[in-house]
Amino acid sequence: MNRTANLVLISGSLREGSTNTAVVRTLAGLLGDRARPLEYRGMAALPHFNPDDDVEPLPAEVARLRQVVAEADAVLFCTPEYAGGLPGSFKNLLDWTVGGTEIVDKPVGWINASSSATGAEGAHRALRAVLGYTGARLVEEACTRVPVPRTAVDAATGTVTDPEVREAIAEVAYALVGHVVAGWGALTTGEAAE
Ligand SMILES: Cc1cc2nc3c(=O)[nH]c(=O)nc-3n(C[C@H](O)[C@H](O)[C@H](O)COP(=O)(O)O)c2cc1C
Repeated sequence: MNRTANLVLISGSLREGSTNTAVVRTLAGLLGDRARPLEYRGMAALPHFNPDDDVEPLPAEVARLRQVVAEADAVLFCTPEYAGGLPGSFKNLLDWTVGGTEIVDKPVGWINASSSATGAEGAHRALRAVLGYTGARLVEEACTRVPVPRTAVDAATGTVTDPEVREAIAEVAYALVGHVVAGWGALTTGEAAE
């Protein structure tokens, strides 16, 4: 099968110089032929989630987010922890996905890039819970901790330069894409058997 998986990459940080965004940006340039990466950068433009606004016509950025998710074969998140949980702006993004159906059964994973002693455990516990509510398909082998110290990020390019870290984050993306491609294989086999 010649199809290439569309992999959407979403950082949960709005910070200039964010390590999480660096991971996402690095993956966008790393995956080569293995996937077609797309970095979603519209988080700051999303309005505050309000169920009253979750009607047609949707706010433009919400419609764009849902379109991006709809066209994805898989979504990979990379978020920091704020005050023991998810950053509010990132939770807001996830809330907007709850209202739509685009993420239902969509393979998702995450890279926990925290290099803190506690490892952003609270954020990732919350992320698991929220993704459960969205109906996304959590791909366990693509939910991994890869500590990315700020020294591993090149300030000029905003990408991860450390070769070992680059390899480790690429492996997570490959695991997610591998899950997608394996699903296509099962589909092809099933179709052939009919
Ligand atoms: C307001 C605030 C709250 C934070 N709370 C936590 C926290 O609860 N747990 C944690 O491990 N790190 C916490 N941090 C540290 C960030 O998670 C850390 O700086 C991370 O690298 C930020 O990600 P970024 O580089 O992608 O922006 C906090 C940082 C800020 C600014």
